[in-house]
Amino acid sequence: MSDEWSPDTHHSSRITHHSLGLIVVAAGRGERFGDDKVWAELLGRPVLVHALEALARPPVARVALVVAPARLAEARALATALSLPGLPILVAPGGARRQDSVRNGLLALGQCAWVAVHDAARPLATHALLLRTLAAAQATGAAVAAVPVQDTIKRVAQGIVMETLPRAELWAVQTPQVFRGALLAQAHRAQADDATDDAVLVERYGARVGVAEGAYDNIKITTPGDLALAAWLLANRVEARQGG
Ligand code: CTP
Ligand code: MG
Repeated sequence: MSDEWSPDTHHSSRITHHSLGLIVVAAGRGERFGDDKVWAELLGRPVLVHALEALARPPVARVALVVAPARLAEARALATALSLPGLPILVAPGGARRQDSVRNGLLALGQCAWVAVHDAARPLATHALLLRTLAAAQATGAAVAAVPVQDTIKRVAQGIVMETLPRAELWAVQTPQVFRGALLAQAHRAQADDATDDAVLVERYGARVGVAEGAYDNIKITTPGDLALAAWLLANRVEARQGG
């Protein structure tokens, strides 16, 4: 690991109200969905609003919402409407790859002791899930929400099974993912290779990434069927809370 960063850089590991920034990335093209999925309606509100409402509350102190350049004006209006007092939602334009969008979010946030990154396409995340991931990150400097895989996973090439991976060791990784702010910024600066999440950049940088208990219903909207499933899951969650 580069000696630019060490776990002792920040002496206090206590989370204060001013130390946690949240980046919600919503600037993808939604190619597999076939439309701008994060703006699609889910029980009357855009998908990304569900993600923001679940996570953009204390101890989060500031939020960067990263959107496609064509959505900037719409996102700014939304940010004004949704911001809690003292918890600004800053809007930034996304980049070509997810990691470019996260990087723009980091620039918009400025320095934060801790940074949580969340996919806007995961509208079923909960505040409790964010707090669990934050707690795991406090122990190691970085942590991801994840669940054990339920399917048997095989490596396949040209339609032929090459290898069956040991299921007991396999986890499906989600967001939120939480990092020391300086570590995440340095890991992003240190490499340009493609990455499907932020943790892999931190892993390649040589830092340890812990795992927090994710949730099987914290699905990512990838195809139109996922939107229908998310609507069903959310509606049942609301009903369960109302005792219906
Ligand atoms: N994302 C982003 N900027 C990008 C690519 C992705 O902000 N350049 C965001 C997406 O908006 C989404 C999250 O990263 O909230 C996870 O990405 P994914 O599910 O792959 O979404 P898309 O890239 O939009 O979908 P697809 O890969 O099907 O085009
Ligand atoms: Mg994508």
